[in-house]
Amino acid sequence: MNLYDRIPNNVNLSEDKKLQRALEKWLPNYLDWWREMGPDGFQEKDVWLRTAVDVGSEGWAHFDYVKMPDYRWGIFLEPAKPDAIVGFGDNYGRPAYQEVPGEFRNSLRRIIVTQGDTEPASVEQQRQLGKTCPSLYDMRNLFQVNVEEGRHLWAMVYLLHGYFGRDGRDEADALLERRSGNPDKPRILEAFNQPCDDWLNFFAFTMFTDRDGKYQLSALAESGFEPLARTCQFMLTEEAHHMFVGDTGLGRVARRTAQLMREGDVRALGGIPLDIIQKYINFWFSYSLDLFGGEISSNSADFFAAGLKGRYQEAKQYTEHTAANEIFTMEVVEDGQLKPREVPMRNALNEVLRGEYVKDCEKGLARWNKVLADEGSHERLYLPHPRFHRHVGEYAGHTFDVHGNLISREEFEKRKAEWLPSMEDREYVRSLMHPVTEVGKIANWIAPPAAGIKGKPFEFEYVRL
Ligand SMILES: [Fe+2]
Ligand SMILES: [Fe+2]
Repeated sequence: MNLYDRIPNNVNLSEDKKLQRALEKWLPNYLDWWREMGPDGFQEKDVWLRTAVDVGSEGWAHFDYVKMPDYRWGIFLEPAKPDAIVGFGDNYGRPAYQEVPGEFRNSLRRIIVTQGDTEPASVEQQRQLGKTCPSLYDMRNLFQVNVEEGRHLWAMVYLLHGYFGRDGRDEADALLERRSGNPDKPRILEAFNQPCDDWLNFFAFTMFTDRDGKYQLSALAESGFEPLARTCQFMLTEEAHHMFVGDTGLGRVARRTAQLMREGDVRALGGIPLDIIQKYINFWFSYSLDLFGGEISSNSADFFAAGLKGRYQEAKQYTEHTAANEIFTMEVVEDGQLKPREVPMRNALNEVLRGEYVKDCEKGLARWNKVLADEGSHERLYLPHPRFHRHVGEYAGHTFDVHGNLISREEFEKRKAEWLPSMEDREYVRSLMHPVTEVGKIANWIAPPAAGIKGKPFEFEYVRL
C-alpha cells in the first residue's frame, strides 16, 4: 500500500521522511488500540461511512461501505493563509507562529494533549453502544462519530509528532495508554471518565460534550500557532455532525415521549419520561461546563496573552484583540453568599467561552421545546443554571439548586434524585435498550429521524450485519 493509502493527508507527508517514519511507527499501535477499545463486536461489518478525503467545502467527504479498521484516518489541515498573523494577545499583529515558540512550548503541548486525550476517550466511553442501537441509522451515526474521533486523535498526534520532537512522541504514545474510567490511568478530563453506556447518555454526550469540543476547537482555530489553527478549523466541519447526532437524537426522544404522553403513562408504554430526559440533560450539561475550566484562571490569561487560545470567533466578533484593560464581573461565593467580583478580562476568558457555549445549548433546548409543543405537550425542558452540580472552578465545593441558588449540602443530597439520574433512572433507561437492527425499524422509545444520511432514506441498510 502506498503512503497516501495508509495515511491520507494534505500535508506533504511523503516529503518529510522523519515525520513519516514516526507516524508509521505509531499507526500499528493506534490500530491495536482501535481493535481493543473501539466499537465492540462490529469491527468486521460493512458500515456506510463518510471518509474525509480533502478539506474543500464541496466534496471533502466520500461515502461508502467500509469496515471500521480499514477506515482511512487521515491528516487534513485547512490551507495556509500567506499573511496569517497572531490574531490576539500581546503579540497581536505579528506573523503567525509556524514553529512552536520556545517560551510557549509547554503550554502548547499541554493544550494539544488535553484536546487530543478527549478524542480516544469518547470512543472508549461509547464502545458498547452498538449492541443496543435503536436502529441501523443510529448505529451508523455512532460509528461515524467514533471513526471521526479517531481521526481527531490523528490530527493532534500529527502536531505532537511534527512539532514537539521526542516529548511529542512520548505524549502521542501516552494518548493510547490512558483509558476512560480506569482509576489507575484515567483520561485527563472528568467528563471523559463518566460512563456513556446507554443511548440517552450518548445523545446527551454528543449534544453537550461534543459541543464543548466545538467551542474549544473554535478557540484553538484562532490560535497564533498556525498548524494548530488550521487543524482545528477542519476538525470543526466533522464536529458539526456529532452535535447533529446529539441534538436530533434528544429531539427524537422528546418527540416520542410526547407522543406516548398523549396515549397514557409513558413508562407503561415503554418510553422515557420527560423528567428522566431532564436529569440526563442536567448531568451532561453540568459536566460539560466543567470542561471550560475555572471561572477565574491564570492559564486562560497566559494562553490568551501568548496568542495560543483565542475567544470564540475572535477575528469575526471582536475589534479589540488584546483584552488588556477590560473587566469582567461574575458572581462568586464569599462568606457563604453570592457576591459580584470584578476580574481582569483575560482571567475570565474561560467564563466568556462558557457563556458562548451556554447560548448555543439554549438553542437546542428551544428546538426540543418546539418539538414538545408540536406534539401537543405543555411540558418543557430547560438548562439548569451553570452553577448547578459543578466540579471545577468557583462553584465546585458549593452546592446549588438547578436555579443557581446556593443551598446546603444536606439539602442538595436530599433533593439530588430530583435533578440527577438516580440508579433506578439509569436502570430503567438501560432496561429499554434492546437492539433494533432490522432495516427501516426503530425502537419504541425514540421517533425516527426526519431524513436519512446524505440523501439515503431512513430505510437503508446503513450497517450490513
Ligand atoms: Fe473530536
Ligand atoms: Fe466529536
